[in-house]
Amino acid sequence: MSFFSGPYSEWTHADGGFVICDDPARLDLDVIHGFLSQSYWAQAIPRETVSRSIAGSLPFGVYAKAGGQVGFARVVTDCATFAYLADVFVCDPYRGRGISKWLMQVISAHPKLQGLRRWMLVTRDAQGLYAGCGFTALAKPERVMERVDPEIYMRARDREADR
Ligand SMILES: CC(C)(COP(=O)(O)OP(=O)(O)OC[C@H]1O[C@@H](n2cnc3c(N)ncnc32)[C@H](O)[C@@H]1OP(=O)(O)O)[C@@H](O)C(=O)NCCC(=O)NCCS
Repeated sequence: MSFFSGPYSEWTHADGGFVICDDPARLDLDVIHGFLSQSYWAQAIPRETVSRSIAGSLPFGVYAKAGGQVGFARVVTDCATFAYLADVFVCDPYRGRGISKWLMQVISAHPKLQGLRRWMLVTRDAQGLYAGCGFTALAKPERVMERVDPEIYMRARDREADR
């Protein structure tokens, strides 16, 4: 069950080998959870949390025409004023072919994501990717606040292991 209803769309890459689709029913939760639970930002995230995060987001899957899901991103948004881009990845064998740059173009042009006053994201080292579609460092960092608990999934995993 998704917060966002269809109709859903599909985009084909210039080389014809990949498609992007915004239909949540098509996503491969094994691939998404497999990647995110090993990632530097969401290590040990529970599968159910990933599932719930997708249900409350506008999700984008990248698929190899010859195979399964090879990339992902999701946008947490009110579709009116604000969007937060999260959980962007391309699986290792498919990197370096422009897939994430294309994914960012598709997301930026998505009809539900037009006219927003502010987009935000957090990244450790991929600033160059997002700069290509207009993201900049915070102009006034003193005006932006966060409340963050980076260990939350690992604590829950360790508690579970201790039981
Ligand atoms: C980051 C990632 C999504 C890039 O995907 P990709 O499809 O290989 O990227 P592309 O081929 O479209 O190229 C990305 C562009 O951004 C640039 N870039 C900037 N920071 C980068 C980074 N940390 N990793 C990869 N590319 C980066 C590249 O140089 C490239 O620009 P160029 O073609 O002008 O040289 C992919 O490496 C990945 O999944 N990494 C692990 C997860 C991750 O770090 N996700 C981002 C979290 S914010």
